[in-house]
Amino acid sequence: TQQARATRRLAADASGEAQAAEILRNGGLVAFPTETVYGLGADAANPRAVAGIYEAKGRPRFNPLIAHVASVEQARREGVFSPRAEMLAEKFWPGPLTLVVPLNETASVCALARAGLQSLGLRMPAQKVALDLIAASGRPIAAPSANRSGHVSPATAEHVLADLDGRIDAVLDGGACAVGVESTIVALLDDTPRLLRPGGLAREAIDAALGCALAEAPKSESPVAPGLLASHYAPAAAVRLNALTLAPGEAGLDFGGRFAGGDNVLDLSPSRDLAEAAANLFSALRALDASGAAAIAVAPIPALGLGEAINDRLTRAAAPRP
Ligand code: TXA
Ligand code: MG
Repeated sequence: TQQARATRRLAADASGEAQAAEILRNGGLVAFPTETVYGLGADAANPRAVAGIYEAKGRPRFNPLIAHVASVEQARREGVFSPRAEMLAEKFWPGPLTLVVPLNETASVCALARAGLQSLGLRMPAQKVALDLIAASGRPIAAPSANRSGHVSPATAEHVLADLDGRIDAVLDGGACAVGVESTIVALLDDTPRLLRPGGLAREAIDAALGCALAEAPKSESPVAPGLLASHYAPAAAVRLNALTLAPGEAGLDFGGRFAGGDNVLDLSPSRDLAEAAANLFSALRALDASGAAAIAVAPIPALGLGEAINDRLTRAAAPRP
């Protein structure tokens, strides 16, 4: 069973980062900001530390975690980078792109963090606090989103504490995340680059860099990514997608002012800016959920660019609960 931990709230300054790095080196759990969402970090080379992530999240089974690195050089020690992987890392790192590559024989990431796979998800986040922390800890940092299993991903330190206070050692408070949805995941394990999860980097940008369209992940491919579980992003309220009007008592998650005038409505982007909508998504879902409404009606959102990741997360939020 989970042991109670006193969760320290650390400022994202030199002193806070040094304390957080020390906790990570000692096998502790630190939530930290990235440009996508807050991650729950542990030393990726330490199986006991990594086991603590699953325990704190209440994640029912072991799924591979993304190993976060502070440089491409550090990533190359962990994974095997094909010319294509090199090109994508060069073009999009640091940034909201996770590359799944074959495990390198020099890798330090432990088997538990990889869920036993001979491949590895690697990401260099575009957040100075995160990069400083990873560099100061001197090792790759395994980090899923810093929420209880099945909850909405955290976009602020307050969201992290709402889910994990007393279950982790510290949260580094770096304010709100700029992108707001998790990274795009691309597998580079054979000759066919595959999109495993749409996310904060638009598919169109990756297609353009590759000079071809990303293939889809085979639906039956194991392991099932937790982000691919139907209800992974569920708030407590029921979620109704593509709503054109609000029903009585419904909260509204708006886009472009469709529900203007509703009294429990949050607009992801009145100006129909998809990047702004992504940045506001998880905060808005949490706020509407906390309002106590039994249902959240969601206005239609175009599926272009970051709209693909937004619609993906909302579809999961609306899926039947286990
Ligand atoms: O933006 C993000 O990606 C955030 C921040 C903290 O970096 N992290 C995040 O982690 O979303 P998580 O654990 O919620 O999602 C990681 C996804 C999972 O769906 C997992 O199955 C997949 O990455 N993954 C990791 N390693 C993999 C591998 N070797 N093969 C296939 N999928 C992998
Ligand atoms: Mg997650």
